Amino acid sequence: MNKNQWEGIASKTKKLQSLRNETINKKLISVIKKYQPKGKNAFDYGCGWGEFANILVEKGFDVLAFDDSDSMVINAKEKFKKPNFLTKKEFYKKLPNLKNKFDLVVSNLVLCILNQADQKILIDNINKLLKPDGVVVISFCHPADYITESVLSRRIRPYEHNPKYDKEFKYRKIIHENRIKFDDYHRPLEYYTNFFVDNGWEILDIAESDVLKTEFYPDFIIFVLKRN
Ligand SMILES: C[S@@+](CC[C@H](N)C(=O)[O-])C[C@H]1O[C@@H](n2cnc3c(N)ncnc32)[C@H](O)[C@@H]1O
Repeated sequence: MNKNQWEGIASKTKKLQSLRNETINKKLISVIKKYQPKGKNAFDYGCGWGEFANILVEKGFDVLAFDDSDSMVINAKEKFKKPNFLTKKEFYKKLPNLKNKFDLVVSNLVLCILNQADQKILIDNINKLLKPDGVVVISFCHPADYITESVLSRRIRPYEHNPKYDKEFKYRKIIHENRIKFDDYHRPLEYYTNFFVDNGWEILDIAESDVLKTEFYPDFIIFVLKRN
């Protein structure tokens, strides 16, 4: 498992990305409304600062959330009282009792920071958390991250490796709004559709984040999924 680069980022910026939230949060809420989870138990996997978990609470969900970075969880707990935030240790301790408990599992902008082995762990854990008829909403970096500039960030490509759209490569992202830097993986769309289908999920819908009236490609893509 890779060291989580977000451990350091939690303390580096308290300035949250309001522009990013503007591009994606409404879209996430609209797909959740459209696919109407049958109950109110929701899980946010890789919740970061806890903002979206809190929005789900405001929308009437009972929310449990987990992040791999303890610093992120500490930040989230300080900010929001209602979602119940779990550290990695707490999550793995509770996981056996959380099986088949959630009507909705969301995971926002986590998949594209993970290597393939960690992606598999994420998907296996989500499968455990989800009720058989539950809905999964996963957002991640749009494959258009092959383009080096977007509404939200600049992408520094590893030119020495001669990146191609249809191949996986790691690149450095610099967020315009708060100047934080981190690494993401570019992967073609086909990689993700195969990844979900091969792991036993049906793709119900695909949505894209808002480009805020600019001429850029969307920063993020959202998949709505359920178990086959
Ligand atoms: C780009 S941030 C997104 C945070 C939040 N979902 C949001 O939309 O604001 C990625 C988050 O994924 C977390 N993360 C990294 N690896 C993870 C893993 N293997 N399992 C769960 N969370 C992970 C990081 O600690 C970080 O908080």
